[in-house]
Amino acid sequence: MTAVTTPDSIMMRLRTDTRTLHDRAEKTGFQQAMIAGTLAREHYVESLVQLFCLHRALEAHLRTLARRNPAVAAVVRDYQYQEPYLREDLAYFGRDIADIAPVPATQRMIDTLDLLAADEPLALLGVHYVLEGSKNGSKMLTQVVRRTYKFAGEAGTRYLDPYGDKQREYWGAFRADMDAIELTPAQRAAIVNAAGATFSGITEVYEELYAAPATGK
Ligand code: HEM
Repeated sequence: MTAVTTPDSIMMRLRTDTRTLHDRAEKTGFQQAMIAGTLAREHYVESLVQLFCLHRALEAHLRTLARRNPAVAAVVRDYQYQEPYLREDLAYFGRDIADIAPVPATQRMIDTLDLLAADEPLALLGVHYVLEGSKNGSKMLTQVVRRTYKFAGEAGTRYLDPYGDKQREYWGAFRADMDAIELTPAQRAAIVNAAGATFSGITEVYEELYAAPATGK
């Protein structure tokens, strides 16, 4: 599906206004070590734990919002909910969901989500944009991660590449669906701000994880 890319499209604006923040997230020691195949396995697993905490919180809010707002329901498709993929990965690594907790940087993001859900729920689409868009890069990293840790098949990388051959199609659909929503200037600004805060928050999560010793939990 071809996305609408008129100059005032929200997707154009998100891409342009958050590009610098994307590049900063991409350049973190964590991401660079992942590309180089030198990231400790424990750091990789812990990142999935943190992303699980984040997605669980975000997706609970998105489900509520989608029930109330048809525009959101039209954007957020079932396959975009990442919690099941993360559950599969964490089960593979033997991590018990009952026994995981957000690090401070993740908790700050979760607190922000709760505020957005209460005050400016449409801004949650900006958060969703960052995480859904991250599949563009993470798909490229999947092969190196599988080689690095000697994972067999899709095990342990369901979150990195949940869509397989459908990645481009799903990203195109998301872009078109986002651009089809009618938004006021204030709503557009809130979505872009939330996306920026999400990039910064994720960067902090990666920095916090990478600075911690790999404990082998
Ligand atoms: C090694 C790290 C990363 C690499 C190599 C990478 C690479 C890429 C590439 C190649 C694209 C597609 C650009 C295009 O088709 O125009 C992309 C898009 C994107 N990435 Fe990353 N990325 C990385 C990390 C991240 C992280 C950590 C996040 C956020 C959690 C992220 C969020 C996004 C988003 C939101 C887009 C969509 C941009 C748009 O609006 O077109 N990326 N990335």
